Amino acid sequence: MRCWRGRGTGGASDSAHRAGTVVHPLIETHPDPESLSEAVADRIAELACDAVEARGVFAIALAGGGTPRRAYELLATRHRHDVPWERVEAFFGDERCVPPDDRDSNFAMAWSTLLSHVPIVSERVHPVYLGGETPEVAAARCDALLRRRFPEAAEGAADARTFDLVLLGAGADGHTASLFPGSRALLERARWALAVEAPPESAVRHRVTLTPPPIELARTVLVVAAGASKHGAIAAALAEARAGGPPTLPLARVRGADSTHWMLDRAAADE
Ligand code: 6PG
Repeated sequence: MRCWRGRGTGGASDSAHRAGTVVHPLIETHPDPESLSEAVADRIAELACDAVEARGVFAIALAGGGTPRRAYELLATRHRHDVPWERVEAFFGDERCVPPDDRDSNFAMAWSTLLSHVPIVSERVHPVYLGGETPEVAAARCDALLRRRFPEAAEGAADARTFDLVLLGAGADGHTASLFPGSRALLERARWALAVEAPPESAVRHRVTLTPPPIELARTVLVVAAGASKHGAIAAALAEARAGGPPTLPLARVRGADSTHWMLDRAAADE
């Protein structure tokens, strides 16, 4: 199998990413949602190949919502044969507490667009919410699974990492995963997954989300956002991230241990 090695653009973000330098958010803007989705799929494929070459596995925490759908479809088609899918392990950054076949389920979205179309090993796909359980039970199971899977990081070992990539979306209010502004989950440092309630206007209120520690210990965090509705949150979050002071928006807080990328379409970009 020929592993995906990017388009050789050699752009700043590619070279900085490939060098694994710890930099402020690297921001890539693409003309429209389709070209953004193509670039996101390419980036994930490249990260997967790099991780498998280096460590024999690629552990990704998938994002929910609607933005990543097209990138997942492109991963399952354009990258069906140049990603070592049998070495990929799929987790989720957050989940709505609905049955895994529900139209609002992040697992259902990833399953229908990507996971059911590639030869990923079923034991390496980790849905967060199985249905018929309390959010607290699901969060405790997710926490225990992550600690078993990343024991050095769970023990606080220096330079230990969790995921190779945490893919995150962006809410118009500045939330990411199911970390909402003002949520106590933003201050959680002990547990790696928590049951939380989304704001009243949310499609599904009961959620399970990764907390900041497992995200901060990921090698790469990749935030993907598209559409004018996200412009305000992106601009505010990047302004906070650049200011260096204590961030208020969840989006401003998310950092990978080795690199942090933002991939935006023009409508969402902070002009
Ligand atoms: C969720 C996601 C959430 C999402 C943003 C953006 O479960 O809804 O984890 O953080 O990524 O709300 O959603 P859209 O991509 O649908 O705009």
